[in-house]
Amino acid sequence: MIDAHILPDAETGTVPATPPVIRREDYKAPDWLVPEIALDFRLDAERTEVTARLYVERNGDHDRPLVLDGEELDLLFASVDGDPVEVAPEGGRLILPLDGAKHVVETRVAIAPARNSQLMGLYASGGLLCTQCEAEGFRRITFFPDRPDILSRYAVRMEADKTLYPVLLSNGDPVANGEAGEGRHWAQWNDPFPKPCYLFALVAGDLACNADSFTTMSGREVRLGIWVREEDLPATRHAMAALRNSMAWDERVYGREYDLDVFNIVAVSDFNFGAMENKGLNIFNSRYILVDPDTATDLDYDAVEGVVAHEYFHNWSGNRVTCRDWFQLSLKEGLTVYRDQCFSADMGSEPVKRIEDVRLLRAGQFPEDAGPLAHPVRPESYMEISNFYTATVYNKGAEVIRMMAQILGPEGFRKGTDLYFARHDGQAVTCEDFVRAMEEGGGVDLTQFRLWYSQAGTPRVAATMIHDPEHRRVTLTLSQSIPDTPGQANKKPMVLPLRTALFDRQSGQRREERLLMLTGAEQSFTFEGMTSAPVLSINRGFSAPVIVDAPRTQDELAFLSAHDDDPFARYEAMQQLMVNALTEGVASGELETGAVIEAIRTSATDPSLDDAFVAEAIRLPSEAYIGDQMLVVDPQGIHDAREAMQQAIGAALEPLWRDLHQRTARPAFSLEAGDKGARKLRNVVLSYIAASGAEDAAALAFAQFDGAHNMTERQGALGVLANGMSAERERALAAFYDRYHGNALVLDKWFQTQALACHPDTVEIVRALGRHSDFTLTNPNRVRSLYGAFAANQWAFHSGGAGEGYRLLADLILALDPINPQTAARMVPPLGRWRRFDVERGGRMRAELERIVAQPKLSRDVMEQASKSLA
Ligand code: PHE
Ligand code: ZN
Repeated sequence: MIDAHILPDAETGTVPATPPVIRREDYKAPDWLVPEIALDFRLDAERTEVTARLYVERNGDHDRPLVLDGEELDLLFASVDGDPVEVAPEGGRLILPLDGAKHVVETRVAIAPARNSQLMGLYASGGLLCTQCEAEGFRRITFFPDRPDILSRYAVRMEADKTLYPVLLSNGDPVANGEAGEGRHWAQWNDPFPKPCYLFALVAGDLACNADSFTTMSGREVRLGIWVREEDLPATRHAMAALRNSMAWDERVYGREYDLDVFNIVAVSDFNFGAMENKGLNIFNSRYILVDPDTATDLDYDAVEGVVAHEYFHNWSGNRVTCRDWFQLSLKEGLTVYRDQCFSADMGSEPVKRIEDVRLLRAGQFPEDAGPLAHPVRPESYMEISNFYTATVYNKGAEVIRMMAQILGPEGFRKGTDLYFARHDGQAVTCEDFVRAMEEGGGVDLTQFRLWYSQAGTPRVAATMIHDPEHRRVTLTLSQSIPDTPGQANKKPMVLPLRTALFDRQSGQRREERLLMLTGAEQSFTFEGMTSAPVLSINRGFSAPVIVDAPRTQDELAFLSAHDDDPFARYEAMQQLMVNALTEGVASGELETGAVIEAIRTSATDPSLDDAFVAEAIRLPSEAYIGDQMLVVDPQGIHDAREAMQQAIGAALEPLWRDLHQRTARPAFSLEAGDKGARKLRNVVLSYIAASGAEDAAALAFAQFDGAHNMTERQGALGVLANGMSAERERALAAFYDRYHGNALVLDKWFQTQALACHPDTVEIVRALGRHSDFTLTNPNRVRSLYGAFAANQWAFHSGGAGEGYRLLADLILALDPINPQTAARMVPPLGRWRRFDVERGGRMRAELERIVAQPKLSRDVMEQASKSLA
């Protein structure tokens, strides 16, 4: 048995200082294929035995042995064509020299699910046994060539104790089951679709089922099941509705029909990511399945809808057509995120969804692209693939698909995806294959566009506009530059589709909208018939994921925030207006609040706008986003300026806020869009009332907290109170704990709210919460809700003069690494931002990274992230 994450070098037996680098250019087709596999599980939490029969076929003319990956497997037996063989794993792998073209290789191994704290492979979670195989977890279940370009037909037999594990699920269709004696039973599942091993799954446990059905476009009936603990059944209704809507949407929008007789979803409480698209058996982090009004916010409801759709859509974009190798991860993830974004936009408000997605991209992906871990959408190399499930691969990847959809137009894009699915059904392919299908289906040339896959870094666009009154002509000159990123310098100009319009200042009318394609380093575009100098509205709808520097006065931005007919551009103008005021305030120490207050008043009183949009528009940008606009992030200056702005807005418009707070109150809960929008606005408004300094603010927030008939308003009020120092703060936190401490997902909110608070003692509070009896390192949701939130709280994380916050996070990383290296590695990037801060802070952050890499027994996951962050 080998230590999972410090693989001894096969020859010397020593531990390499830095893990080996895997390169995209080194891809080679597999030596052996495995068209079929039969698996037999004797399930037991302490000791599970797995027998695997692999039908292997030599791929091409060569004499290389069969190499099977393995990790933490206790080999009990091996045979080739029925003859036992004596072999021992070398560096975890089994190497079998074989003579013929086809053989049957059988192995039996023992594994220990109850001791699997990494949550990769077969593990125990709250009495269940479940699996997670993407990206390289299958090798922790059995010996197998663990790579996505080997597609096999699976036959799975499971045997387990009947009382502990009455439900036995796997991929595909259930074909038989029966008694096994001694209180045990068995079930057989066969999956007719060949799949890569990362899509394998099984679940055993005492689960209840929300059962439903869906009739597909060709009239086939599919049995749907969402499996949870009995008491959680009522909270699965929203997920089931989302599933049915997703199935119908994929038929209508992409012509994609579901292909098996059953589709099952299981919710588990311990999960490294959001959810997993295993064929016919999706496994979810329970936070993306379980929602009800008392325990889940509207954001939680939306996340459930989006993630259910995402995993369902993978059945085509990921499963039927899968990835050749892990460098192609965005092939399935970028495309599937784009698909789930469009689905959610169709289910709710398209403009608000776009604003939310862009905010997410800017909060998560832009900083990644500007830091030491920047990598292209299709990375060139990795040490540990788990580190590449990133905002770049997912969210920037989705923006790349969105740009192609924009360039091809709706019909061309549909032709492209039809061709892609038809041509590559049942194959493991590359991003290049996808782009080629888009080119042929849409009839366009995407040669230069391909740079979006290979060049990292967020492009910057500078705009200058000159008005020539004599010829009534406007010349817009755009130039682009792409910053250097680790391992990449002197980049080529890219294809930037910029939806642009000009507005007449006097009439408020929009003159013209064009999709400008900026393809050169610098290009000019002319607009005729312009009698007066217009106002520029550029990158409307955020048509390209770039940073635009367009010189516009605060006055022009205020004009756009009130008149632009593109909702995203309108939101964006307001954001820019606020950012300008705040960054200038930080630089000069003099905060100019007037223009922002007036623009907010205009939006908040505009009867043509819905509440959800107003809530987005009038909210100040986050401290982190303001920091991203500065050369050197000044956490204290930003915090002070933003608080002062919030206070000024709160006080100047107090009657309006009071009025809106009453108008947005509802006698009962509904998920209707108008009511959701009202709740969103109500929480923003409450934060302005609190900021105004009004004497009754804490009482008002407590009243909202206490009287709420839903979690959106309750948590919103708790967040507002957590920022202050009032007596109501402690009362609300205690009441929240008392009411919800039995519900892990809600308790996460209790931890998170305190870690996100603007409170002078946040570092101490977080330290104490880390020792709370309800805190545990074995549950990723709990870890993220405390430390993930804390690291995202810019002011708190960077406030301690001696780097207390950095030390707290580094200590967490080191404590968590031996338990769950994937989750530990996800906590490293906040420290990797050290170059963005002053020398003193930066030095302290660096010192913590150095302390981490100096640890002798570091996982490959954390080693890669920490060493790259220092480079
Ligand atoms: N493939 C999953 C998704 O995006 C994410 C995931 C990756 C889940 C790795 C678990 C482990 O849908
Ligand atoms: Zn996905």
